[in-house]
Amino acid sequence: MNERGLRRLEADYCSWGDAVHSLEPPKIFAGCEGCFLYDSEGTPYLDLQMASATASFGYGNKRLNQTLKEQLNRLPQLGSHYLHAEKVDISARIAQLNEKIFRKKGRVHLNVGGSPAIEDAVKLVRNATRKNPGFAFMGGYHGRTLGATAITSSYRYRRRYGHFGDRAYFVPYPYCFRCFYGLKREDCGLYCLKQFERLFETEYYSVWDSRAGECEFGAFYMEPVQGTGGYVIPPKEYFVGLKKILEERKILLVDDEVQMGFFRTGKFWAIQHLDIVPDVIVFGKGLTNGLNPLSGVWAAEEIINPQIFPPGSTHSTYAANPQGTAIALDVLKLLEEQDYEKKVNEKGARFIAQLKELQKKYPRIIGDVDGLGMALRIEFCREDGSTPNPELTQCLVQEGLKGNLKNNGRNYGLVLNVGGYFKNVLSLSPSFEISHEEIDLAVELLDQLLVRCIK
Ligand SMILES: Cc1ncc(COP(=O)(O)O)c(C=O)c1O
Repeated sequence: MNERGLRRLEADYCSWGDAVHSLEPPKIFAGCEGCFLYDSEGTPYLDLQMASATASFGYGNKRLNQTLKEQLNRLPQLGSHYLHAEKVDISARIAQLNEKIFRKKGRVHLNVGGSPAIEDAVKLVRNATRKNPGFAFMGGYHGRTLGATAITSSYRYRRRYGHFGDRAYFVPYPYCFRCFYGLKREDCGLYCLKQFERLFETEYYSVWDSRAGECEFGAFYMEPVQGTGGYVIPPKEYFVGLKKILEERKILLVDDEVQMGFFRTGKFWAIQHLDIVPDVIVFGKGLTNGLNPLSGVWAAEEIINPQIFPPGSTHSTYAANPQGTAIALDVLKLLEEQDYEKKVNEKGARFIAQLKELQKKYPRIIGDVDGLGMALRIEFCREDGSTPNPELTQCLVQEGLKGNLKNNGRNYGLVLNVGGYFKNVLSLSPSFEISHEEIDLAVELLDQLLVRCIK
């Protein structure tokens, strides 16, 4: 069927409730390979968002695709009441790795999709602490199921539907380029952290019973690098201080690594950059290179042992499915076999250096370039260097999808992702396998887009 026919059917028969219509008209792709998506005419689009930050090892990754094919031939599905080797092996590997990194024994519970895994984390916390509400960050994103939206800051996701349970108490994230309090990191003395700690000074600030020595909130849900919030990289000192405050008040720390886990930031978990130990980790996305929606949570033994979290506590038909666990297991083997810390950091540094050069060409308009590993951000501003410029950012995305940029006499497109509190950030999550030439091409195409869009 041609594109016109597809669009007509989509308009009549597809729900528009997902994210597809955030771009008009939605772009249709027909194929993918390596770092590229292809439209029906075969035009290559260099992809800097890689299937919503899932396909870290590239499209059509031969090894991982082969693993999936082999699993399809051997044990493609299994009733969720039975065990298969891959489920046990992947859970043990993640738990053993965390034991090594954090010196904490724990267990893994698998599910499908980031949001359902977040729901599992919320269940674990509520069950272990007997407290429903939690703290979470402004600008945080944890998914759009009802429980997840209660800890995701945007009211937009709750407005029509409300939420189950208690809405989180949202506190400002240490987003230093746009400090909530209007301060500068050089001399702020971590004012935002001090403001958070003040909540515990007296019961009259609403969260703390000083006689019982107990907080009303069971956990703090956080992203070590904010994803949807615009790849915001926080100062480590903030989180070292936050962890101390939480630990002293017996508040659990839930680390949402759905977008940043599995070396996106150059370490296995992004929280390793912050030198703190979480009680729960939630993961998904990169775990299967985007080939299967497998996700999961790791939790410390005291929160997830079979006495406290007994059989049937949570369940989903496709959780721990054989295809997903087989690919995930191979992803972990791949990460063990090759030095991804080195690879991701080297390529990320090369990419950032070039983006900083681009920033020199468009000073102020490119207000901020930053990155950790291969989680990269470009924040666009107006001529004053600080007012957010969402119109420019949107233009770059739309123009990139036209597929008529030029390089060496060939047409290209560029696939970009908009994020940020003001929708003025390009959050880039390129493939770990991107070549130096492809990084050069990405920056060249970005430059062409800027020339087109800067009015
Ligand atoms: C940090 C984070 N948590 C949770 C989610 C929700 O995951 P999913 O979209 O798979 O439900 C996302 C999705 O982008 C995410 O970035």
